Formats: sequence, C-alpha cells, structure tokens
Amino acid sequence: MIERDAHGGLRIGGASLAALLEAAACGTPAYVYDLDGMAEALADLVRGFGDAPHLVAYALKANSAGRVVRALAEGSAGADVVSGGELALALACGIAPSRVVFSGVGKRDDELDAALAAGVLAVQAESVEELERIAARARALGRVARVSIRVNPGLEVDTHAHVATGHDEAKFGVAEADLGDAWSALERNASTLALTGLSSHVGSQLVSTDTYARAAEQLARLARSRVAAGAPLSFIDTGGGFGIDYGSGCPARPADFAAAAVAAVRREGLGHLTLVVEPGRSLVAPWGLLVASTIAPKVSRAGRRWLVIDAGMNDLLRPALYQARHRVEPLVGAGDAPRAAWRVVGPVCESSDDFGTHDLPAEPPGAVVLRDAGAYGYSMASRYNGRPLPAEVFVRGGQVVGCTPRASADDWVRDRLAT
Ligand code: LLP
Repeated sequence: MIERDAHGGLRIGGASLAALLEAAACGTPAYVYDLDGMAEALADLVRGFGDAPHLVAYALKANSAGRVVRALAEGSAGADVVSGGELALALACGIAPSRVVFSGVGKRDDELDAALAAGVLAVQAESVEELERIAARARALGRVARVSIRVNPGLEVDTHAHVATGHDEAKFGVAEADLGDAWSALERNASTLALTGLSSHVGSQLVSTDTYARAAEQLARLARSRVAAGAPLSFIDTGGGFGIDYGSGCPARPADFAAAAVAAVRREGLGHLTLVVEPGRSLVAPWGLLVASTIAPKVSRAGRRWLVIDAGMNDLLRPALYQARHRVEPLVGAGDAPRAAWRVVGPVCESSDDFGTHDLPAEPPGAVVLRDAGAYGYSMASRYNGRPLPAEVFVRGGQVVGCTPRASADDWVRDRLAT
C-alpha cells in the first residue's frame, strides 16, 4: 500500500519511503516497488473470476524484475511472454510451462523451438504463415505443438494509437476473414499442430470494458463453432490491457474485465473452458514509483519555471513516447508551503524529455516521485545519452528486501569502448 501520512510523507507498507531509500542507499534515479501491493492486485483480479476456471498470465513485458515475477508467481500467476528471454525468465522464476503462453508477432525459429521444447500451454499464432512455421519446427523437433490462434477482432479501442492492437490495420492477429485459411492450415498439419485455444488482445490502458467485452464475445462465438467442428479447445485468452488511474480516472476495475470475459464464455455455453487473461500494467503500475533528485531549478525572466531532475526519458519513456502523464509529487511533505507550477524535465538532450507541468512547492523539493511507474518504466529504460540504467528497490512488509544499485557510468564507458 502506497499512501501519504499526516505530514504528507509517502509511506510504503507503513514505512517512510524516505527512510527506506536511505536504508537502501542506492541513489537516484531509483524505481521503488511495493511487492505486497502487486500481490493484492493479483488477488483482487482473481476474485473477479468467481468460480470460473482461469489463468492469470502476467505479461512480463510490463515489469520483468525477478522479485516482481516471483511475487506474482507465488500468488498463482502464470506468464504471457513475447521473447525467448522472457520465456527463460518466466521458467527460471518457477512458473510451470503449462501456465505460459507465448505471444508476439515475430517469433524466431530458435524462440519457437525453446517454447516447444519447454511445452508451453500454447504458442499463440499471429498469422497463417506463422502456423506453417510452427508446424515445421514441431516436425523438426518430433513434437506436437499446442497452438492458439490470435484473432484480430477488427475493433477500434479508445486508447493511445501506439497501444491499440485489435483494429484492421494493426499488424497483430488473424482477421476473421482469414480464419478459414487458418483452419485449413491446422487441418493440413493435424499431425503436428493441436489447436487448444483462441486468443485476442485489443489494446492497452483500456478505461472501459466495452470493447474488451465485444472481443471476448466474438472469441467465444468462434470458439463455440470450433468446438462444434471437433477441436478440443481448453482455453479462451481474452488478453490484457486493463487500464489504471494515472490521475485522470479509470472507471473500469481489473476484476470488471475478468467478469466481462466470464459472462461472454458462459453465454456461449463454454463455461468449462479456462479463461486466460494477460494483464501487465494493472498488476504492477500503481505499486511502482520513480524517485528522482532535483539537479537544479531554472527560472527565466519571462517567468518560466523548469525543475531539472536526474531522471530522464531514458529512465521513464512513457511521457515522451505516448504523451503519458505521471503525477509528480515531492518525496517529503511540504505542509502549507507556497506552491508553484513547475515544468518537470530530465537531463536528456531532447525536448520530449519532459514530464509535464506539476503543482509543487515553490521552494523546489530536493527529490520528487513520479507515480504509477511500476509498469513499462524500467522495462523500457535505455542508456541513451550515456546514462546508466536506474536503481531498483523492492519493498515487502514495509522493509527493503532487495536493491539493485544504479549501474555506473564506468560500465557504460567500458561497454562502448569494447565496440
Ligand atoms: N498481451 C499482449 C499480447 C500484449 O501485447 C500486451 C501489451 C499485454 C498482454 C499486456 O497489456 P497490459 O495489461 O499491460 O496493458 N509500453 C506501453 C504499453 C504497451 C503494451 C504492449 N502490449 C505503455 O507504457 O503504455
């Protein structure tokens, strides 16, 4: 639980964030994660399924820190992986292969081989061509590949264009008009391909369940006709994308998406199938903070006020890439001190390295916190501008249980010199 105390100080699991950071002594910029909050988010989502058979396949791309993946796996999560690296990490974190789905529009042969050798629940085929490639790899390995077809439902969703994935122009999934070809490919390769599920993922940061529910209904309808045609389906995967409240609201709760998917499969008489969902963001984003130190304020004669902090777009790319807004707050409470509008910016040499204008104490705080940074923060970080990757601090039960210090500039210099 991340909350503010009576003096305005941030607390994680009851402990002062400032004190936790001092104990961790890992410097800034630093991501701080509340593992208990993540575990509770998973338990909340699971309640949304009621008694329906389900598998929460955590999308590792959101946050692949081992402690995060293990905390969710302990809470019964499986994994949605999109690369050989994520597959290996999920398995190394103790997730059973039968609880892993392998998604992604461009899986290489070596990645398909690793997934088939591990025996994942399904390789989610994104095209008819990919089905043929999976069949070829299964033949080469002497195995039968469990596959699902990722259906592109042809639906527009209300989210940022970069993360909408279920419309006709998107590179993802098989359009309904092409499914006949997919069924033929499955028949042609019946000795190497076993269709065990159907899947879709319409987009990320969905703030309403409407489109998600429509896609789930379409999947359930298609699944019913496949079952009638004799396919021994075991699951329907309605994807992830459950939105969170970054400060401008998100009426739909993660459990509402689960309930919508349950309703869709039950309506088609498929309540016995396992419902798979692939949430990333909603399980981790609100329980991660990016802590940054103020490098210097900069105030112009024209009255512009910039607060230059030591975290940049290389540490948290979302504002630059999606015009995303993360709330920025002082690390320690400032009481009734006068406030001012500060444009919070990072040190990177790009104008998009800008976290937006925030109401902060007029006397600039020594350190600030960017909220809701637990998803797609560290996992999208880079070393652009010769900046080392940020630190990560893990908190459980109000205690620091792990800390990876910020990489050093020397490491970067050594790595680049070696090229
Ligand atoms: N399943 C598939 C097939 C996906 O492509 C994704 C996300 C997920 C599940 C998990 O979606 P989530 O529950 O996290 O919304 N970097 C962007 C988000 C990119 C999402 C990519 N795919 C951001 O920072 O907003």
